Amino acid sequence: MLKRKKVTIIGAGHVGATAAQRLAEKEIADVVLIDIASDMPQGKALDLSQAAPIYGYDSHLIGGAHYETTAGSDLIVITSGLPRKPGMSRDDLLRVNAKIVKEVTQKAAEMSPEAIIIVVSNPLDAMTYVAHRTSQFKKERVIGMAGVLDAARFRTFLSMELNVSVENIQTLVLGGHGDSMVPLPRYTTVSGIPIMELISKDRLDAIVQRTRDGGAEIVKLLKTGSAYYAPSAAIIEMVDAILKDKKKILPCSALCTGEFKIDGVFVGVPVKLGNQGIEKILEIQLTTEEENRLKSSVETVKKLCKIVDEVL
Ligand code: NAI
Ligand code: 2OP
Repeated sequence: MLKRKKVTIIGAGHVGATAAQRLAEKEIADVVLIDIASDMPQGKALDLSQAAPIYGYDSHLIGGAHYETTAGSDLIVITSGLPRKPGMSRDDLLRVNAKIVKEVTQKAAEMSPEAIIIVVSNPLDAMTYVAHRTSQFKKERVIGMAGVLDAARFRTFLSMELNVSVENIQTLVLGGHGDSMVPLPRYTTVSGIPIMELISKDRLDAIVQRTRDGGAEIVKLLKTGSAYYAPSAAIIEMVDAILKDKKKILPCSALCTGEFKIDGVFVGVPVKLGNQGIEKILEIQLTTEEENRLKSSVETVKKLCKIVDEVL
């Protein structure tokens, strides 16, 4: 009998619960929702289970605070932590979220030593470092989610500008998930047509900047938290690529060990995702300017990791 895949989502807040909903609705896996808030994850899992007869999915969902229920997970998605509030930078979250990510990684990794971990909590690249250091999992099995979201934002803004389908737009965003991220217009096409042939430099520059500010724009509008619909969709694309061994090329935060001349830092790079996790980092050619931007983004991540080392 085919065994359904099992995904544990830690943090049943906006991102975690919406990711659980999307996973169940697509019948990608059974889901265990874990949260420190008492009873809330049970409530959300039950609510999602009761939507199943109407939506027609057979994924099982359970929620709770106890890690025993997560044993044998194929994938662990870490969304626990505090979200960004208006006026707060991702980096303000650093120390408090590092402690949370360390604690939940320890507990989850012990229950599922063969799992692949996807980190979502912010500041993303530093939290992925925390999960890797804490779990001691192989680097291929600890991955940060950010590039898929940032690229989706870039694609959305370009499709609005050009009035073409979002599906036509392919792009890459490298670097850390923050103000130093590196959207790559040179690797952006609309159905194969280089973006520079379709849009003026001024408009493209403005869209690149809007992409960099994409998270903050939503925070300002929501006022009580940060984005979760697009982030949860980005998580699902990564989970699906891994569980279905799709060998999909996506920008993700990965531990570089020499690639792009980066050593020992988690940062957004193009990777191939399959059932082994990160099966390859694709070292694409960069111009000097792109390389410098990536280097400066790496320096920003390094600084955060140094602070995190004090917490670990
Ligand atoms: P939220 O506040 O709605 O949910 C976070 C949940 O984590 C809460 O339910 C809280 O009770 C739980 N939690 C806190 N400490 C915990 C612990 N020790 N064990 C288990 N659960 C614990 O926040 P939201 O909007 O879901 O965001 C979650 C995180 O994801 C934030 O750090 C946010 O900045 C980040 N994020 C990252 C994105 C990315 O692109 N990487 C995109 C969107 C959000
Ligand atoms: C975002 O980019 C908050 O990092 C999160 O929406």
